Amino acid sequence: MITVRVPAKVNVQLGVGGLRADGFHDLANVFLAVALGDEVTASAAGPGEGVTLTCSGPDAAAVPLDDSNLAARAARLLAARHGLGEPDVRLHIAKAIPVAGGMAGGSADGAAALVACDALWELGTPAGTLLELAAELGSDVPFALLGGVALGRGRGEILDPLPVTGTFHWVFAVADGGLSTPAVFRECDRLREEAGTGSGDTEVPTPDADPALLAALADGDPVALAGALANDLQPAALSLRPSLAATLRAGTEAGALGALVSGSGPTCAFLAKDAEAAAAVAEALRASGTCRTAHATYGPVPGAGVLP
Ligand code: C5P
Repeated sequence: MITVRVPAKVNVQLGVGGLRADGFHDLANVFLAVALGDEVTASAAGPGEGVTLTCSGPDAAAVPLDDSNLAARAARLLAARHGLGEPDVRLHIAKAIPVAGGMAGGSADGAAALVACDALWELGTPAGTLLELAAELGSDVPFALLGGVALGRGRGEILDPLPVTGTFHWVFAVADGGLSTPAVFRECDRLREEAGTGSGDTEVPTPDADPALLAALADGDPVALAGALANDLQPAALSLRPSLAATLRAGTEAGALGALVSGSGPTCAFLAKDAEAAAAVAEALRASGTCRTAHATYGPVPGAGVLP
């Protein structure tokens, strides 16, 4: 039996380019891995049992346990790459990352399942191959393997680790219900059309990482990082879920240095000065009635790794 711990992510910068012919958008996506994470356990199953999936945690009922789950797809993809045919494995997800929340929880479970099955089946798959398989599973899966802080280019899967100093303290406000990532990208395109700027990749300039944001990460400066937080998907998430404006305001009024929608939302992320300030912001958010719950955490942390 192998258990893998895997982090959620927040995008401290999410620059979104135009819609490409393949249906994806080119990104300048600065990922930061946070300690709020899931655990995926892989254990051997009897011959012919196939891949079975179970899930625990307060939001377990919202996790799809069919073949669409990225953990199940990861197990099959890894087995296929090694010519093993349909694998027999039990996967259990201990879920702490908000479901459909813009924190790449499903992607994290896919990455964790790759690492867990690789260890269980003693395959020793090279890191480069695991990253390739991860990119096949989804745009955010490679980063969950890598962790730390990284710039994602292309659709987010082409990763370069970034220098970072120290630890940043975060609060995540969890909304009721999720948002569909494709729906938020579509709304971003619609808003761009409505504004008259166009939404295609020949009309929207290719985004770039913000040098001020990269310097703030390298310096470990939370005030500078708060000033540089940026998410091009935020107007679209707010358009689909206008109530998020009140959540962002509540966290800011409670003393957060900066606030933004996490990825495609609806989870909102708040950067705090230190651990004590983060605990206070989380408590104020829970009392504000503008979110279902709030978690204080920190990052960067490492990517998916086997627990001893
Ligand atoms: O890669 P992933 O399966 O996570 O993407 C889900 C959906 O999000 C895509 O089908 C696409 O609609 C949208 N997406 C996008 N541009 C990206 C990443 C995702 O438009 N760079």
